[in-house]
Amino acid sequence: MKDKLQAIKDEALAQIEKAVDLDRLNDVRVSFLGKKGQLTSVLKSMKEVAPEERPAFGQLVNEARAQIERVLEETKGKLEQQALEHRLKEEVIDVTLPAKKNNVGHRHPNTIAREEVERIFIGMGYEVVEGPEVEYDLYNFEKLNIPANHPAKDEQDTFYVTKDIVLRTQTSPVQARIMEQGKLPIRVIAPGRVFRSDEVDATHSPSFHQIEGLVVDKNITFADLKGTLEQFAKELFGENTKTKFRPHHFPFTEPSAEMDVSCFKCGGKGCRFCKGEGWIEILGCGMVHPHVFEMCGIDPEVYTGFAFGVGLERIALLKYEIDDMRLLYENDARFLKQF
Ligand code: DAH
Repeated sequence: MKDKLQAIKDEALAQIEKAVDLDRLNDVRVSFLGKKGQLTSVLKSMKEVAPEERPAFGQLVNEARAQIERVLEETKGKLEQQALEHRLKEEVIDVTLPAKKNNVGHRHPNTIAREEVERIFIGMGYEVVEGPEVEYDLYNFEKLNIPANHPAKDEQDTFYVTKDIVLRTQTSPVQARIMEQGKLPIRVIAPGRVFRSDEVDATHSPSFHQIEGLVVDKNITFADLKGTLEQFAKELFGENTKTKFRPHHFPFTEPSAEMDVSCFKCGGKGCRFCKGEGWIEILGCGMVHPHVFEMCGIDPEVYTGFAFGVGLERIALLKYEIDDMRLLYENDARFLKQF
């Protein structure tokens, strides 16, 4: 038994010396001192030792164990120190290297244009509101005086989700939603994404953006509409911008108009930019139709109001002189960085 004990101790010390890292060292510890370890099994076979020799032998086992543990501990300390030195060497930071360039993105021209329009109207006391992009037919059409058989509801230009739900074709449904809330007076703009079944080309996309405007109060007149939109045009395109209102038709306004601005490139003389016209069409507008008021719970005998809708891409294309709308959606950072 004594020889066996000596052999186990020698073997343990030899293996400890050979252990190259902490994992290996731990394996050695388990295989000798663990519950099923070799030294532990020697203790278990104590009964093979003559009773009078047991205390002395027990002491030998304990000494062997203590020695193995001490050497294990020393080696562990050494290996830990080595591992630390290795890591410090590996992870050395060269502070003289040039820093990595952080690639910061850029605001999209649409976003810049939207924030500019918002800034102008917030300055005139408007609130910015939002409505859902997936909208009830009721708000997108019915409450805007566009009944079931109206050509604007044609499946040609509307994405239907179900019979009663559509991807909104305009931001005008937000008007109906805000009026229904009944908090008067109203002075809001509602920017957002709209959808139409259009083919992609330089000026069309099945998904684009509009900004809707709505003012409802007592004694609002067409003069308020003109003054407001003229001020808007001057702030957006420059102090010398002139505006022109042409009669038009929208189902939800009466009377309705389209507003043109004088070409800010040639000042109205006519150039390539305005296709020789001197004027550029910019938005649709009108006085809120009394029937729309009624359907949204507002008394048209007491209140009047005006509304307008402007295409955001159109403004971005004009303002930044971009000649193809598709460029706005390609997200090529080299293009976007120019604005
Ligand atoms: N919703 C119209 C469109 O998509 C634009 C518009 C015209 C909005 C006149 C209005 C308005 O609020 O009064 O073409």
